[in-house]
Amino acid sequence: MDRLYHVLEAQQFDLDLIEAIFSTAQEMEQVVQHYGSNILNRRVMATLFYEPSTRTRLSFESAMTRLGGAVITTESAQEFSSAAKGETLEDTIRVVAGYSDVIVLRHYESGASNRAAAVAGIPVINAGDGAGQHPTQALLDLFTIQREIGRLKKINIALVGDLANGRTVRSLCYLLAKYEDVKMYFVAPETVRMKDDIKEYLQRHQVSFEEVDDLHEVARQADVVYQTRIQKERFGDRTGEYEQARGKYIVDRSVMDCMQEHAVVMHPLPRVDEIDPEVDADPRAAYFRQAHNGLYVRMALLRMILA
Ligand code: NCD
Repeated sequence: MDRLYHVLEAQQFDLDLIEAIFSTAQEMEQVVQHYGSNILNRRVMATLFYEPSTRTRLSFESAMTRLGGAVITTESAQEFSSAAKGETLEDTIRVVAGYSDVIVLRHYESGASNRAAAVAGIPVINAGDGAGQHPTQALLDLFTIQREIGRLKKINIALVGDLANGRTVRSLCYLLAKYEDVKMYFVAPETVRMKDDIKEYLQRHQVSFEEVDDLHEVARQADVVYQTRIQKERFGDRTGEYEQARGKYIVDRSVMDCMQEHAVVMHPLPRVDEIDPEVDADPRAAYFRQAHNGLYVRMALLRMILA
């Protein structure tokens, strides 16, 4: 069994490790459907969430429970943990590390997971650090593309929405860059275009990308349309900018009509209004299947880290 320790950023994975995670995830689907598992019996996972979450926290907790492990948790950690009394992240992590075998951390500051990993002494999983990264989401996104399209090479993918602040797209770019002949189309409102750090990384790794304005046009070329939410919480008091960005690119029936038969729409969720609910009934709407895949991928990660 391949061993993993921290999960901090998408760049840390190589193709062999990704393949090992995906084949373990497939096994995990069987575990869920058939017999369950006790492989992580007596192991404890701490989920420490300083920002809101439904899918990431609950799928990690479900994953741990389904493998026979136990969960301790503080959601709204900013309000309910000792952070409210002024404790530093480092001190909190040192303490929680004494109560658990792995820490799953979501934090509003980019780089928080690296800070936590430096003092934890146990594995730390980055469940989203500000506008930084969300590597476990990117792994489940990649797993979903593999399942839905049948390959990871030679993919045309349109990344749509808040590309500046969306940590899931940032992590996904790093992962997709590892595969041959991937073509990325960035479709973003003016104020939230893809940042230079990612573009420079893609250039260095000879990944082809293009910034385009017309979502309908690009929908014709794409195997995957990956829509994202405009990240309101990163705009502060710039509400005018937020309102301008929101509503610029909506995936609705007219976009679906442009897409090919085999193509899919993905979204890390939660959505606000950037995918019209009338799209949900289309078999090419893959976002709820994508969210379910998160359970299997997170079970695989916990098993590889702890078993
Ligand atoms: C994403 C996140 O938290 O970055 N959600 C998730 O984990 N599935 C996307 C978002 O909040 O828009």
